[in-house]
Amino acid sequence: MRIGLLGCGTVGQAFVRTIAGQGETVARASGRRLEIGPILVRDATRARPGIAPAQLTTDPQDVLSDPEVDVIVEVMGGIEPTATYLRQALQGGTPVVTANKQLMSRQGADLLTLAETSGTELRFEASACAAIPVIKVLRESMLAAEISAVTGIVNGTTNYILSEMARAGLSYQEALAQAQALGYAEADPTEDVGGADAAAKMAILASIAFHTNVHFDDVPYEGIDGVHAEDLELARDLGFVVKLLGVARLGNGGISVRVHPALVPERHRLAAVMGPDNAVLLESGTVRQIMLVGPGAGGTETASAILADVLSILGTAKGSFLQNALVDAGRPLLRPDQTESAFYIRLRVMDRPGVLAQIATAFAEAGLSIRSVIQRGEGEAARLVLVTHVGSESRMNAAVAAMRDMDEVRSEPVLLRLLAEDAA
Ligand code: NAP
Ligand code: HSE
Repeated sequence: MRIGLLGCGTVGQAFVRTIAGQGETVARASGRRLEIGPILVRDATRARPGIAPAQLTTDPQDVLSDPEVDVIVEVMGGIEPTATYLRQALQGGTPVVTANKQLMSRQGADLLTLAETSGTELRFEASACAAIPVIKVLRESMLAAEISAVTGIVNGTTNYILSEMARAGLSYQEALAQAQALGYAEADPTEDVGGADAAAKMAILASIAFHTNVHFDDVPYEGIDGVHAEDLELARDLGFVVKLLGVARLGNGGISVRVHPALVPERHRLAAVMGPDNAVLLESGTVRQIMLVGPGAGGTETASAILADVLSILGTAKGSFLQNALVDAGRPLLRPDQTESAFYIRLRVMDRPGVLAQIATAFAEAGLSIRSVIQRGEGEAARLVLVTHVGSESRMNAAVAAMRDMDEVRSEPVLLRLLAEDAA
C-alpha cells in the first residue's frame, strides 16, 4: 500500500518513522507492505531524517495525481489549499486519512458526504485527542449508547502548560515554549492557548456523539491566556485544579458545546490528567460513564492514530486481514519467574540485634535492592515490611526461600507486587 503524504512536519516525520518501525508487524498481520510515496512540503530543499530528497515535492499533483498512490495522509493542516487537495483526492476515489481538526470541524460533513458519494473513505481519528481512539469508540462501540455528555481535556498544550505551572512553578511563557519544543503546539500556538484548537475538537466529538452536525462556529470558546499562577494557587487552596475543559451536553431540548477554563475538584478523575495527556469522559444513559485517557499531542502519538486509520482502511476492505485468523508472530510466552516487579513483603521476625541485617543480606545476595523498610515492635517479635525496587520474580523467590530458612523469621512471608511503571 503506497501512501502519499501531504505535509511532513512534526506529525508527518513521526508517521514516516512509525511506518519504518512497524512495517514488519503490519506486513505480517495484513499481508500488505506499507510504503511512503511522494511527500508534499513547502520547502523541499530542507533535509528531513530518513526521507530521500527525491520523495519531496512542492507540486501537489505529484501526490494527488500519482496513480500508484493507494491512500493519502494529510498532515499539513489549515483550511486552504488543504480542502481543495482533499476534495480532489476523494473525488478521484482515493481514501484519505487526516489529522486536521481545523478542517474537519468546518467542512467535515461535506467532505464525508463527498467520500461516500465517491465510494471511498475519509478517516480522521488523529484530529481529536491524538493517540486516544475516541472517534472510533464514539462511531462504532458507542454508536447507540445514547450519549448525554462529553466532557474532556482535549488540548495537550494547555494541559501541559497548566500542569507545569502548578507542578514545577514554570511561568506561562516558559511552559508554552516547552510545549512548542516538544511538538505539542500547533504551528500557530494561539490556536491552543486561545481555545480554538479545543473548540474544533469538541465540534468534531459532539457531532459524532449527538449525531448532529456541530460546526466550529457553533462552539463558544475561551482559552487559558487569562489564567494566572495566582489562580492556580488559590484554586489549589480551595481543593481544585484548573483545567481547560470542553463540555458538550444534550439537554433542555438541544445541544450545548463550549470550551473554557474550569475549576475541577481535586478528587475528580479529570483532575489527575496531567502534562500533554487528554481525557474524554463519555456519559450515557445506557452505560453510565466511560473515560478514555492518553497522549493528546505529539508527533509519534498522533502518528499512531493515523496508522490506525490507514490500517482500518486496509483491514475493512473486502477479504482483508481483519477477517483472517490471528497471525502468530512466534513470540515466546514468559514464565512468571521471568517477569519483573517491585515487591512488598511482610513478615514477623524475632526482635533481636542483627535480624534486620540478616534479612537485608538475603535480599542483597538475591540481587534485589530494598527501597523502604518499616519495623513495628510487637513484644519479642516485630512486624517487618520491606518494599523493593523493580527486580525479577526469580530473585524475589530466592530471597523468600532464604528468609524461610531463618529461625528468626516467625511467619510465612506475605508477598504482594507493586504496580510500577518501570516493571515489565
Ligand atoms: P507542522 O509541523 O507545521 O507541519 C506541517 C507540514 O505541512 C510541513 O511539512 C509543511 O511544509 C507542510 N505544509 C504546510 N502548508 C503547506 C502548503 N500550503 N503546501 C505544502 N506543504 C505545506 O504541523 P504538525 O504539527 O505536523 O501538524 C500537522 C497537522 O496535524 C495539523 O492539522 C495539526 O493540527 C494536526 N495535529 C497535530 C498534532 C501535534 O501534536 N503536533 C496532533 C494532532 C493533530 P514545510 O515542512 O516545508 O514547512
Ligand atoms: N496542538 C494540539 C494539542 C495537538 O496541543 O492538543 C493535538 O491535536
